[in-house]
Amino acid sequence: MKKFLRLLGKFMGTVIDAVKQEANGCLPNGKKVQVVFVLGGPGSGKGTQCANIVEHFGFTHLSAGDLLRAEIKSGSQNGEMIQNMIKEGKIVPSEVTIKLLQQAMQENANDKFLIDGFPRNEENRAAFEKVTGIIPEFVLFFDCSEEEMERRILSRNQGREDDNIETIRKRFKVFVESSLPVIEYYESKEKVRKIDAGKPIGEVFEAVKAVFSSIDAKV
Ligand code: ADP
Ligand code: C5P
Ligand code: MG
Repeated sequence: MKKFLRLLGKFMGTVIDAVKQEANGCLPNGKKVQVVFVLGGPGSGKGTQCANIVEHFGFTHLSAGDLLRAEIKSGSQNGEMIQNMIKEGKIVPSEVTIKLLQQAMQENANDKFLIDGFPRNEENRAAFEKVTGIIPEFVLFFDCSEEEMERRILSRNQGREDDNIETIRKRFKVFVESSLPVIEYYESKEKVRKIDAGKPIGEVFEAVKAVFSSIDAKV
């Protein structure tokens, strides 16, 4: 009997997983969405290239970092905690970021989203998949040297509290220790489209265009 129940449990787990896969792209309100994750180290040019992709390929850009900064400004309960985490270059608990991403996708009429700067660690990745059931179409990875990223961040001039050399070093460490493993995970699923992001903006976008054009051709 015990063995039967165990087998039944296993079978039900498989069925639930299959349903989840099928429900790929569903938000709490039932809206179906197409998602591309845009990853890369701090200063690799994610935001810059996302603006170009929006213009050419009809996606809506959602930067997890921007959503968190807006949450601080809105005076939310979590504001102080988020501000402290960002100052230290640490990753905010997934439930906070996922809620912001879900809300933003529900509120927007578009159904194609670039999610920039998320998932940043294994917890982000697994929680997003569990809560939303959304599997990304692919993962765009901007590969850039730390030297170049540091140069770019130090001349970004957006008044960000985390764009100082002390926090930058912490963010690089978090990227290597927590974010690169997420990219490796998606590599094992053959989802990663790697771009040499060390080149000038226009050249990087040519490579990005080639990736998105091949998707367009398939639809
Ligand atoms: P991220 O969103 O990955 O942190 P940003 O898009 O904000 O990076 O870019 C960081 C800074 O570098 C910005 O000031 C941006 O104008 C600049 N930048 C972006 N891409 C390039 C590039 N390919 N070459 C030189 N500077 C760049
Ligand atoms: O992507 P961006 O550089 O704007 O992120 C700034 C900061 O926001 C990160 O260093 C981190 O503290 C926080 N963040 C986070 N979780 C994410 C994305 C950003 O905690 N998924
Ligand atoms: Mg950015």
